[in-house]
Amino acid sequence: MPESESLPAPLRLRSATRRRLLMCPPTHFEVSYSINPWMDPARPVDTDAAMRQWTGLKSLYEDLGHEVLEVPPVPGLPDMVFAANGATVVGGKVLGARFRHAERTAEGPAYLAWFRAQGYEDVLWPEHINEGEGDYLTVGDRLLAGTGFRTDLRSHAEAQEFFGVPVTGLQLVDPAYYHLDTALSVLSDDEVMYYPAAFSEGSQAVLRRMFPDAILASAEDAAVFGLNAMSDGRHVILPESATGLAKQLSERGFEPIGIRMDELLKAGGSAKCCTLELRD
Ligand code: ARG
Repeated sequence: MPESESLPAPLRLRSATRRRLLMCPPTHFEVSYSINPWMDPARPVDTDAAMRQWTGLKSLYEDLGHEVLEVPPVPGLPDMVFAANGATVVGGKVLGARFRHAERTAEGPAYLAWFRAQGYEDVLWPEHINEGEGDYLTVGDRLLAGTGFRTDLRSHAEAQEFFGVPVTGLQLVDPAYYHLDTALSVLSDDEVMYYPAAFSEGSQAVLRRMFPDAILASAEDAAVFGLNAMSDGRHVILPESATGLAKQLSERGFEPIGIRMDELLKAGGSAKCCTLELRD
């Protein structure tokens, strides 16, 4: 066992691993429809501010040593900036996304075309509705899978069969946390943080069993999308207003980095939603 794992949590040595990330610029970003409780088409959106916040996130990833690739934005697909939903990539295999709402269905083929053009060969156009890494999160050698609002329960079996990794289903119950990545964030190969009230009683029990030492988010930190965070094992990028989570992360030896993503939050997304990890 490496020495760091035998130390008490606050002294555990944290090391970052370099990630390959896919992002899509918010060139055509707007809130012209509403498919989650955060989206109010009557509220004005500042596309320049969204672009500044998005560019800030991209530069931050690069400054931390990660590789960022870009998929070209498609006019008429304002939510395409939320690259996390574009697919799920595990071990170089790509499970395409099949969206719940008509407003986003064209994004699935647009993302898959990018993967094919990049030379990915093991690509599956799915039978069942799933919204990519919005609802599929890798923890170590297994997948946590959300359902309840977007991803169909039948997709969990499809993903397990395709990737050949164990898939643990989790039931989301609060419409404000409609994707798994709005309610739970993976910090390392065996650590997560989450907002318990976003999950059914049974799924809360599953999470306690799997991650007895998890960081639990307050309602306040969850409501500013503090769980829509990206960790590289050491740095955790999250909305700056999630101050309680930042404190808990520091106590565990992580380096929280607070950023502003409030313009994108008008569509119900933040840092993680804008990022798809290419697990090749
Ligand atoms: N407006 C988008 C939707 O409702 C936001 C998606 C956020 N993405 C995410 N991975 N949670 O689908």
